[in-house]
Amino acid sequence: MVTTMNVGISPVLNDASFSPFDPSVPVQRSTFLMCKPTLYEVSYVINPWMAGNIHTSSRSKAKEQWKDLYSNISQIAEVSLIDPKPGLPDMVFTANAGLERNGVTVLSNFFHKERQGEEQYFRQWFQNRGYDVVTLPREISFEGEGDALFSEDGTTLWAGYGQRTMKSSHRYLSNTWNVEVVSLYLQDSRFYHLDTCFAPLTGGFVMYYPPAFDSPSLRKIEDRFAKEKRILVDEPDAMQFACNVINVGNAVVLNEISKNLSSQLAERAFYVVQVPLGEFIKAGGAAKCLVMKLSKSIPD
Ligand code: ARG
Repeated sequence: MVTTMNVGISPVLNDASFSPFDPSVPVQRSTFLMCKPTLYEVSYVINPWMAGNIHTSSRSKAKEQWKDLYSNISQIAEVSLIDPKPGLPDMVFTANAGLERNGVTVLSNFFHKERQGEEQYFRQWFQNRGYDVVTLPREISFEGEGDALFSEDGTTLWAGYGQRTMKSSHRYLSNTWNVEVVSLYLQDSRFYHLDTCFAPLTGGFVMYYPPAFDSPSLRKIEDRFAKEKRILVDEPDAMQFACNVINVGNAVVLNEISKNLSSQLAERAFYVVQVPLGEFIKAGGAAKCLVMKLSKSIPD
């Protein structure tokens, strides 16, 4: 049995001189965008996880799990909220709203029509809060932070393609932030977004499920991360969305994972917080899919 831990006790940043609880040290807190699961359900099938799960999720259980995630995240970061909208049950997965850095948001162009209705609400949200909003040509699909993850220092953007996001979107991302984009081909339909099988972590670590990638992509990962920095996830943990992790400082917040993987993370000084998110896995998402990282704190 895995217990849900509370991060309140001591999430510390990797730099030991930089404690978030020392009031004399100004700390730039991370901010995440979330969407309450008030209208969440599985009402169509656009990935293998949703098959057989139409109307099987419990809204009250989903609300409890989301609240648990929200309260854990609130202890290590600021949280901004966007209102859920009727007919858009996947809007709770805000990682797919777009990708934001330095006040610039590249909005998503969803691959499936079932989610395209979300685009206007995410656009409004960012425009109303003063972000520069970049729109890609309609025919180029791009699913936001679900498929694009910045390295810890922001100089590299890891970007997935082959399932939802088109490779042709990557050059727009590179031009927007003047960053190197490393394109990774996703070959397994169960791991249809990069954030379901790959997570760059603080301290220069990376956690990933190798079979989700083709061999040229695996080589790119191995070229950029030394062996001792790679945390390989096996299939049972990958199926528990172990790579779908929210990482702030040395805290990692994720669904329930094996003892073996949580010890591997703990050995590397990560503080592991497991929050059961089974109701969201029925739609093909877990911790990381339920948040989008923002570079500035926005008063609602
Ligand atoms: N049902 C949603 C979809 O298929 C789940 C999205 C999960 N989000 C993510 N960032 N992996 O689009």
